[in-house]
Amino acid sequence: MNKLSKSSFKIPELTPAQIVGELDRYIIGQSKAKRAVAIALRNRWRRQQVTGSLKDEIYPNNIILIGPTGVGKTEMARRLANLAHAPFIKVEASKYTEVGYVGRDVESMIRDLMDTAVAKIRAEQMRAIQSQAEQRAQERLLDILLPLPKSARKKKPEGDDGDRGLTIEQHRTTREKIRAELGNGQLEDRTVEVEVEEEPYSTMQIFSPQGIEEMGFNLQEMLGPMIGKRKRRRQCTIGEARDILLSEETDKMLDMDRIVREAIFRTESMGIVFLDEIDKIAAPGGQTEGGPDVSREGVQRDILPVVEGTTVTTKYGQVKTDHILFIAAGAFTVAKPSDLIPELQGRFPIRVELEHLTTDDFVRILTEPENALLKQYTALLTTEGIELSFTEDAIREIADIASRVNERMENIGARRLHTVMTTLLEDILFDAPVMSKKKLAITKPFVRKTLKDIVEDEDLSRFIL
Ligand SMILES: Nc1ncnc2c1ncn2[C@@H]1O[C@H](COP(=O)(O)OP(=O)(O)OP(=O)(O)O)[C@@H](O)[C@H]1O
Ligand SMILES: [Mg+2]
Repeated sequence: MNKLSKSSFKIPELTPAQIVGELDRYIIGQSKAKRAVAIALRNRWRRQQVTGSLKDEIYPNNIILIGPTGVGKTEMARRLANLAHAPFIKVEASKYTEVGYVGRDVESMIRDLMDTAVAKIRAEQMRAIQSQAEQRAQERLLDILLPLPKSARKKKPEGDDGDRGLTIEQHRTTREKIRAELGNGQLEDRTVEVEVEEEPYSTMQIFSPQGIEEMGFNLQEMLGPMIGKRKRRRQCTIGEARDILLSEETDKMLDMDRIVREAIFRTESMGIVFLDEIDKIAAPGGQTEGGPDVSREGVQRDILPVVEGTTVTTKYGQVKTDHILFIAAGAFTVAKPSDLIPELQGRFPIRVELEHLTTDDFVRILTEPENALLKQYTALLTTEGIELSFTEDAIREIADIASRVNERMENIGARRLHTVMTTLLEDILFDAPVMSKKKLAITKPFVRKTLKDIVEDEDLSRFIL
């Protein structure tokens, strides 16, 4: 039986409403887009529950998010992947139009996705074995500090090895005493000698015409075990020794086969690829002749099989892309989704438009999300012992200024709030360590005064905001 099907991991059972609720913690507004991605995510869970051959016939609802810059497209995809515990990667579709990217390279997005899955699951496993590995490292450290008495050993040691001629009973009590001393940190600076494995040093450099990446695997990693590891004795402090031993024990306990199996499973059935700037590879008005547009259409043709379902060779093995969820995004100011080649359009059946953000949205974005900008700056200044607060009308003024600057110059959406905030708080952030006032209330007059000149002077605001 294929071990993959035995994967213990279940896609978390969030209902669409719960998914929207989770997204609401970070993203303001955009309810249509939230609903669409929530349904797509729930459908993958539903597919997981389907039994029989129909399961393989159910394809993901790939989505195109259409909307101006800075309104939450990328943020939404990232939060979605997080709460789904799904392998996630964001790539710019336009990068494949650059010189040097052709054909096969589009598949590198799947290799990257697989890499993130492996790293994630490895980290999960490490957390799971952490305390056990720590224990083992501790026992090994004790063995080094107080070797077993000669009489208790199977193999006779050579030369002096620190045997203190203790009886087994004495040895046991001494070991416990040292354990206690280690525990309360008394011995941290003492030096010990540990045997460390050296990374196999390969003098070979392998070049292939396509480069390592193209080959989908890493020769160094493959040859590593064959070259073997050398051991070397090293003097170090107890603290360092503990780290060395811990990482060795962790490596021994990690089950790489299982990690890779699980990573393939999760990538294939839950992976999310966020294809940003998809509009940049669409040719407006259906023009296909000459110029860069040929390569744009070429990129669409390259992407197509990956989205439709193909098998990509990665250094961990074959990964099928049939059920990976693709979320594409673009501003589509020049090109339209209908300018994409029909086959690709068909693979992205769900289109959602994101809304422009209003001043009211800005007020909420400044204050409500868990990572809201005002919360971030308040936390930063707390570290300097300064209590920062904002009056309600000050917040509205900031939001209003951001909206006005967006209207007058380029509309960069919520990103404008970042530039306005850094400008507003620049002096405070600079002087904070030497400020005598420990409570600062940002008021509307303060906002006006600080930003007035910049907002009113077109040239200045172009540079600063
Ligand atoms: N609706 C929103 N709610 C909360 N924060 C938002 C919202 N929209 C944007 N932001 C914030 O603005 C910044 C930029 O947003 P994001 O990266 O999602 O833009 P985008 O829509 O992907 O734009 P682009 O088309 O330029 O890639 C992020 O820091 C994000 O937190
Ligand atoms: Mg984006």
